[in-house]
Amino acid sequence: MKALLKTLQAAALLLSLTSLTSLNAMAAPAQYPAELVERGRYLATASDCMACHTAHKGQPMAGGVVMSSPVGNIISTNITPSKEHGIGNYTLQQFSDALRKGIRADGAPLYPAMPYTAYAIMTDDDVQALYAYFMQGVTPVEKGTPATSLPFPMNVRTSMKAWNALFLDDQPLKPEPQRSSQWLRGRYLAEGAAHCSSCHTPRGALMQEKRDLYLGGAQVGAWYAPNITSHPTAGIGSWTEAELVQYLRTGRVPGKAQAAGSMAEAISMSFSKLHDDDLKAIAAYIKDVPAIATDGGQPAEVSRFAQGKPGNELVALRGKGYQAGMQGQQVGAQLYSANCASCHGFDAQGTKDGYYPSLFHNSASVNTSNLLATILLGVDRHTAEGHVFMPPFGKQANALNSLNDEEVAALANYIQVSYGTGAANVKPADVAVIRQGGPQSHLPLLAQLGMGLAVVLLIGLAVFLRRRR
Ligand code: HEC
Ligand code: HEC
Ligand code: HEC
Repeated sequence: MKALLKTLQAAALLLSLTSLTSLNAMAAPAQYPAELVERGRYLATASDCMACHTAHKGQPMAGGVVMSSPVGNIISTNITPSKEHGIGNYTLQQFSDALRKGIRADGAPLYPAMPYTAYAIMTDDDVQALYAYFMQGVTPVEKGTPATSLPFPMNVRTSMKAWNALFLDDQPLKPEPQRSSQWLRGRYLAEGAAHCSSCHTPRGALMQEKRDLYLGGAQVGAWYAPNITSHPTAGIGSWTEAELVQYLRTGRVPGKAQAAGSMAEAISMSFSKLHDDDLKAIAAYIKDVPAIATDGGQPAEVSRFAQGKPGNELVALRGKGYQAGMQGQQVGAQLYSANCASCHGFDAQGTKDGYYPSLFHNSASVNTSNLLATILLGVDRHTAEGHVFMPPFGKQANALNSLNDEEVAALANYIQVSYGTGAANVKPADVAVIRQGGPQSHLPLLAQLGMGLAVVLLIGLAVFLRRRR
């Protein structure tokens, strides 16, 4: 009887919440029903708020994560319900605007490093659940974060208003009544909360997602998020839905791919914790995304999951150790033997149980960015299956397994020739770029030049007008 009463009360509260016409009226702190808070917690997990708003070894949602973007570092903020340092004073309407329109409580626009362009499609109900969770389910942390300072003109936040006017599509998803409820759920999650496209869709000169190349593959910092459209060779058309579900839950599909970098983070903190039904829905939708034939501009003749073969060029070198005068592939082979073979095997065949993957038939060996990033940064992933770890070789502090740019380039060329694409065109300068966190955009420079040009034109105009007078 008591339980029934409670459910009725909860239902009544929910009803009163949803029937409010103005979200603003929600400002007063309320006791939210546990179910609503729990739903909000699940949505926060699906949306991976944690990944960006929790610093390494920091307190949950307290912000301070420094995110390298092509235009400079952006620092995530404290989104715990602290009234002084967090979002404790946010009304539901303000929270909704931050999440779906990219507008902060003080009216200033947020940088799109906060994925509001994806969250824009979230329903009012889900935003409400998230709000209840953040106000009631998250522990307040009384600590601020350093302010973001980008180069001019990006430091002028109002410039984002123009960007939003051009690129923010905050319309709800198009109704597609002929689709299954599974496909619709998958689209809602993949396009909204899980924001796959914010990493996997290439961006234009102004950092906007190119919708015509939806999920066609893109560089995100040091890592490359590959083409995951349904194309049979350029994308993941050769994967079954079950394999995609397995990848999202565990981060690995033996003989095809493993997740490192930002994908490993997304899997550890978010996708691995989703309900089976939701993972299946996401997979069903992703597998149906229209095919794009290129991956990062290269036509794909052979799928990246089928390239390379086992090899033992090492045989000739085994036991010889490093010798002065060794060149090219020999140096690479030597480095491979000394640093990698103990886990990945002398023929790069990996281990039978798949814990140490083979380096041929491996999407990461084929993509230079991901190969270099793996060598420099390693792999670190936590799922229900346990901790998957490969040590980073780019740490200067760790002299024992620290490789310099020349060494990493030689090693990467050896791997790509022996087990991957067959081409050896990695240069030490390419390694330096990945070590620094990926290619930088020319956007600040262009914008500054643009401004400079405008000033020159204005001065020119002033001089011209004066002369005429
Ligand atoms: C991909 C990274 C990323 C994810 C995922 C993310 N955020 Fe953010 N968020 C940011 C960054 C970066 C900022 C600060 C942006 C700025 O300063 O313009 C921010 C700012 C905010 C703000 C504004 C706070 C303030 O007053 O400064 C709110 C609210 C917020 N995020 C809520 C959320 C919620 C809720 C989620 C999950 C549903 C989420 N964020 C997921 C990166 C992220
Ligand atoms: C924060 C950025 C980010 C988000 C969000 C993200 N991905 Fe990824 N994804 C990556 C990166 C980077 C890789 C490459 C990882 C590697 O090779 O170690 C990747 C790899 C993959 C792969 C393996 C492809 C291959 O060839 O190895 C699949 C499949 C995939 N992602 C699917 C998804 C789906 C589906 C979503 C949304 C539910 C998603 N990703 C969201 C960054 C992201
Ligand atoms: C201590 C064992 C160990 C050593 C040494 C090691 N690796 Fe790994 N490697 C791993 C593990 C574990 C994974 C991740 C497997 C997974 O994700 O399921 C991995 C993954 C990889 C991947 C795939 C990454 C991705 O994103 O898909 C590549 C490429 C790779 N290693 C190359 C190398 C190279 C090159 C070296 C030598 C510089 C090396 N590894 C040394 C254990 C090791």
